[in-house]
Amino acid sequence: MLSREDREYDKRVRSLKQHKKKRKLSKDNDDKNDLQTLKKIRQDKVELVETTLKEKNSKQKLFIYGNYNRYYGYRNQSTHDGRLDSWNHQWFQGKDCLDIGCNDGHLTIEIAKKFNPNTIVGIDIDASLITRARSNITRINSTKNHQFPISFGICHGPIVDTCNDDSTLYPRNILFKQENYIKESMESINEEKPLYDVILCLSLTKWIHLNWGDEGVKKLFKRIFMNLRHDGILILEPQSIESYKKKKRLSATFRKNFDEIKLMPDQFNDYLLSEEIGFSSCQTLPIPNDAVKGM
Ligand SMILES: C[S@@+](CC[C@H](N)C(=O)[O-])C[C@H]1O[C@@H](n2cnc3c(N)ncnc32)[C@H](O)[C@@H]1O
Repeated sequence: MLSREDREYDKRVRSLKQHKKKRKLSKDNDDKNDLQTLKKIRQDKVELVETTLKEKNSKQKLFIYGNYNRYYGYRNQSTHDGRLDSWNHQWFQGKDCLDIGCNDGHLTIEIAKKFNPNTIVGIDIDASLITRARSNITRINSTKNHQFPISFGICHGPIVDTCNDDSTLYPRNILFKQENYIKESMESINEEKPLYDVILCLSLTKWIHLNWGDEGVKKLFKRIFMNLRHDGILILEPQSIESYKKKKRLSATFRKNFDEIKLMPDQFNDYLLSEEIGFSSCQTLPIPNDAVKGM
């Protein structure tokens, strides 16, 4: 028989156990709730990061043609482009030139000013860059005319650009137009006319290669050859294959074209001199000190 004290004691122990059990249950529930809240917060965070990235990607242009909108700010530390230093005045003076992939026209304008070609046409696949290139000429015109009041021209005859006395045509010798230089078919390329004495193809071949593969590069070179007059000059600045590697991740097309490349940049010279294209000689120019690797 249990004494009254023992029974009382048992009762208290049971009640304590029950209380403990209840507390454990509620703690488990609390823990569960906490875990769910944490998971939810984490999920929200992931979703937030994903949306931000998606928004960023849709806002951010991928520049799949190398059509960077701050290209020259990055490439040239000063307003002068060091590539021009190794070029010969005579190649351009009084000649008709084409600059393929001219971006916002910074270099095209510098050539037009420094070397005084008869004409220089800058083309780019990106219409917004061509709009900027055109407005760059408008700006040059307005700053030029700003030096004299209009009445000065009326009283004293046409105003010459005093900043550049030997350049009589500049900036009227520049024309910018939007165009994809890579044509659909080889047949249409074979009908191209010889319109230029000098063609510039600078930091462009990587973008042609990644977008249109070896076929694109072959079309590019063939069209350049067809567009050049007898004794014409191609100034080519190819990017190294090393510089393709970072960009190949931008799209499945890039990766596929990269993986299938057979005509490597270091084979371009031989290919241009081969019967397939037809150039007669080639010369390597010095690399400027301020050169930026593979843009
Ligand atoms: C890296 S930038 C080089 C700019 C300039 N040639 C230079 O070296 O200072 C390449 C330019 O080529 C243009 N481009 C790419 N593919 C082209 C194509 N198929 N036809 C015309 N322009 C193209 C791009 O829009 C871009 O502005």
